[in-house]
Amino acid sequence: MGCCTPLFDSELSHRLDGQTIAITGASDGIGLATAILCAKRGAKLILLCRNIQKMQNAKNDILSNFPDAHVDTVQMDLADLASVSRAADDIFTQGLSIDILVANAGVVFHPVSWLYLTNSVQVINHFSHAHLFNSLVQNGALRENCRVVFVASDAHKAADGDLSYWKTYGSEESARGALGEAVSFKAYAESKLANILFARELAARYEKMTIVALHPGAVETNIGETVKDKWGCCGSFLSCCIFKCCGTCFRNPEQGAQTSLKCICDPALSTGKYYSNLQEAPVQIRGNRKLDEIQADLWNITEDFLKANFPRRPPTMISTQ
Ligand SMILES: NC(=O)c1ccc[n+]([C@@H]2O[C@H](COP(=O)([O-])OP(=O)(O)OC[C@H]3O[C@@H](n4cnc5c(N)ncnc54)[C@H](OP(=O)(O)O)[C@@H]3O)[C@@H](O)[C@H]2O)c1
Repeated sequence: MGCCTPLFDSELSHRLDGQTIAITGASDGIGLATAILCAKRGAKLILLCRNIQKMQNAKNDILSNFPDAHVDTVQMDLADLASVSRAADDIFTQGLSIDILVANAGVVFHPVSWLYLTNSVQVINHFSHAHLFNSLVQNGALRENCRVVFVASDAHKAADGDLSYWKTYGSEESARGALGEAVSFKAYAESKLANILFARELAARYEKMTIVALHPGAVETNIGETVKDKWGCCGSFLSCCIFKCCGTCFRNPEQGAQTSLKCICDPALSTGKYYSNLQEAPVQIRGNRKLDEIQADLWNITEDFLKANFPRRPPTMISTQ
């Protein structure tokens, strides 16, 4: 494998037989590579993807390499909260029980919709994953002693934890804030900080679970395409700068999935922690806000968001175990 990429479990000593692993965004990039590495170790997979054709291709890809693999597929678009609810219901009605949930799907940029007054980067990268977790806890599809792995990013270092416009989500003010944030890469940085702090808060509240976040390194995947779509050829340069900021060289998706694999397999993982290059890593942001304060803010904003969008399905997240 290429430069600066520590490998986890190259001897295949960690088996995942009997473990059911659900992975969001398993149709491409790091998510697909993670699914393949897990299938290689005997895991039963649930692929959660928005694009049915790409999901089927991913399943075929896995089965062509590992014909005995057990692969279930559930369509889910994280930009659409109703679709996330349906996916959680499907998992439950199919009688699937999840040992490990990998919240991997993510986007750097996504069009801000004035019609719905939303910034989809927040929704896809954070709120929908929170809704998915909450729904799977509520319907019992997520095991009490499960593991939850959030694929975050060192891009969180560009965040300052100012979530003020997240609070007024759905309002015109929020949309204006979201527009400003969306063109500045800040929305992505804040959403990746949200992944890390949400994992920390859940770890404190769900003591029987092991919940972590991670940085996969700078990985050559399609995620840069959203940058290119947004700014054309300037985007190519910008995406290159973004990835160069995150690491000194690019990894391929299999290399980029190594820290995810560690967080999935390693029995010695510390709940609530952030991992990078197979090791615990510090969480650092810009500005003076304390992480604990931002974490508390994020929790309240997320609860309010779930209550506002699912008034007849009150969040389980409110109560601790
Ligand atoms: N690549 C890097 O250098 C890097 C660095 C740090 C962190 N990360 C994180 O790694 C994670 C995976 O990214 P990647 O680099 O593998 O990117 P990728 O190749 O673009 O894959 C992203 C995955 O997320 C899915 N996705 C996007 N929007 C979705 C939606 N609305 N609903 C459901 N699924 C959706 C994509 O589905 P489609 O196949 O349908 O597009 C795809 O499967 C992200 O959370 C990202 O923030 C990546």
